[in-house]
Formats: sequence, structure tokens, C-alpha cells
Amino acid sequence: MYKRIGIVTGGGDAQGTNAVIEACVTYGVKRHIKFFGFLRSWEGVYDNDYIELSSTTVKGIGSMGGTILKTSNRGKFASKSGNEGKKIKIDKELIDKVVKNYHRLNLDGIILIGGDGTLSGALQFMDRGINIIGIPKTIDNDITNTDQSFGFSSAVNIVVDAIDKVRTSAESHDRVMVIETMGRYSGWIALHSGLASGADVILLPEFDFDYNALVRFLKWKKHIGRDYSIIVVSEGAKATNGDVISDKNIKKGEIKLGGISQEIINQINKLAPNQFDLRNLVLGHLQRGGSPDSMDRILAKSYGIKAIDLILDKRYGYMVSLNDNNIVEVPITEAINMLKKVTINSHVYQTAKKLGIFMGV
Ligand code: F6P
Repeated sequence: MYKRIGIVTGGGDAQGTNAVIEACVTYGVKRHIKFFGFLRSWEGVYDNDYIELSSTTVKGIGSMGGTILKTSNRGKFASKSGNEGKKIKIDKELIDKVVKNYHRLNLDGIILIGGDGTLSGALQFMDRGINIIGIPKTIDNDITNTDQSFGFSSAVNIVVDAIDKVRTSAESHDRVMVIETMGRYSGWIALHSGLASGADVILLPEFDFDYNALVRFLKWKKHIGRDYSIIVVSEGAKATNGDVISDKNIKKGEIKLGGISQEIINQINKLAPNQFDLRNLVLGHLQRGGSPDSMDRILAKSYGIKAIDLILDKRYGYMVSLNDNNIVEVPITEAINMLKKVTINSHVYQTAKKLGIFMGV
């Protein structure tokens, strides 16, 4: 008997999504699974807009960036809004139609490849009887109950490469370069890339920073003969008593963060006029671009295979997860309880601190 499985990719794109699709389909068709790739996340299920996926369709896509199924992180199926994870209810009529189309296609389940927002939304479909297996996808690496989401490793490599390049310019001009990374309310990208690239300062959403202390640190660096500095700041970082910088115009869907690197320049100029030559670089969507690195390809493919194994065992409602180098499953309900944040106990944080990198205070 054939099983009929839909694949949905939601949230911001991340390197490795196509590798998941390739692995699921390549492995699954040999085990009598027929695949329906829905376009543009849940919108595709709602509009009955899908492509049938065969081994031939997916051959070789594992090395490509983006997602062949397209994706969406805003719009009518957004299940989070405003600040830090406020859940919103998806309209009942929208879910009704998704459920109707799911049954019309006689699907057994859906592989949902997404980040924290997409996976949180999954519950609203599961409550209506849709079988879901989640796969953690986000460059932010902020999903709990998995050691790593795919996309993270490639994003970190992109940031490190950018900082390596910017460093020579900063050094030649004796400048302070402020590099702003993505990550939302978790600082993993900034922390890992900052440590790997030898940044002088790393500012994370998890630990508010003090402008006076930052300026003192930069002056001290200059004083000891270090004429240039590299500051890596995560988009969700904020100063003590300050606010996260965001685009206030987004009404539905998650808040759009960004602008902290410019704000840092403004504040340093205020506190130490004419003392530093400052420039900022917002890396933005470059971090989600291009091919997945080998780590993300392997992780994504392993997640894909695990998802199919769960489907073959008829075990739904789980997210696949990396745990101490093993691929396991955790209930989706547990995986979305809270964001995975950097803690002082993280060995990467500790290493950065012991190396003398300024971490905010
Ligand atoms: O969730 C991934 C992420 O890259 C965040 O780090 C960032 O804040 C957000 O997506 C930006 O998404 P977009 O500009 O696509 O809405």
C-alpha cells in the first residue's frame, strides 16, 4: 500500500532545505511513499498548489540553496506576531480549507520543515487531525530540544567569511567595524561567528550591554596599540534600559529586527565624539544565501531520513532532533515551548569570555 505524504517548507529559507527534500524523496519512494510538494508553505495546501516529487525531480538538489518548494514567513498563515513569540490563532476558515484539501488528496501526513514560528503553528493543524513530522530549520539555531538546526552552520561560515574580508579594510583604515548578524532573540550566529573570526566585541540579545563600558573598552584597545576593532552584534541585542531596534510597521507576522549596528555607531559618536572612525555592515539575507555547507547537508539529509522512518512507523507529532550526535525524535509540543538561548554556561560563551572578548558589560 502506498503512503501519501505532503512536504511543506515554512519560515525564512535556510541552507539545507533542499537536502532534506532530496533525502526524504530518494529514501521514501523506494518505500512506497508518494510525495506532494506544496508550494509557498501552508498557502500551497490551502490553494491545492503542489508538485509531485519523484527521485528524478529531486536528484542533485541537495547542494542548492533556498527551497524548490518556496516558502513564506508572513501572510495569512503566520502563527506568531509582535514581540518575542506572541502566538496568534490562524483563522478557522483557513485551517478548514487546509484540512479539506489534506483529506481530498488522501494524505497520510505532512513533513513540515520550519523554524520556531512554523513549528509552533503546527499544533493548530495537529489539533484538527493532520499528522505532522517537524524538521528544525533555521539559521538562528534557536529551536529548543535539538543541538542544531540545519542552516546554522552555513550562516556562521558566511558571517566568518565576511568578517575575515572586512577585517583587512578595518585594519588598513584604523576603523571600528560593527557587523550586524541575524538571529532574532538568540545570539548563536553572532557568538559563533564572533569567536571564530576573532572579534573584539560580541553583543548578544541574551545579555544587555552598556555603552559606557563599550566605549571604555574601545579606548583601552586603542591605548594598548590596537588601532582597529571588530564588533559583532546580533540584531536582537539591546543596551541596558534600551529597546530592541525593529521595524514598527509590521502588523502581522514576526517583528522585523534590524538597525542596532547603526544605533551603536550613533551612541559611540555621542559618548566619544571624533575619537573613532566607525562603519557598520548589516549582513542581512546574505546569511541565508547560497549552498549549504557540508555540515548542513549531512544534518539535513539525516533529518530527512529520520522523518521517513517515523512515518513508516506511523509515529506522528514529533520533531526530529540532533542530540549528542544522535538523530532522535522529540514531541513537537516540547520542542516549541521556548527559544533556545545562549547561556553563560555555553562553552562557546565561556571561551569567548576567557579570550578577553568584550561581551557587553
Ligand atoms: O528566522 C530567520 C531570520 O533569518 C531571522 O534571523 C531574521 O530576523 C528573519 O529571519 C528575517 O526574515 P525576513 O526578512 O525574511 O522576514
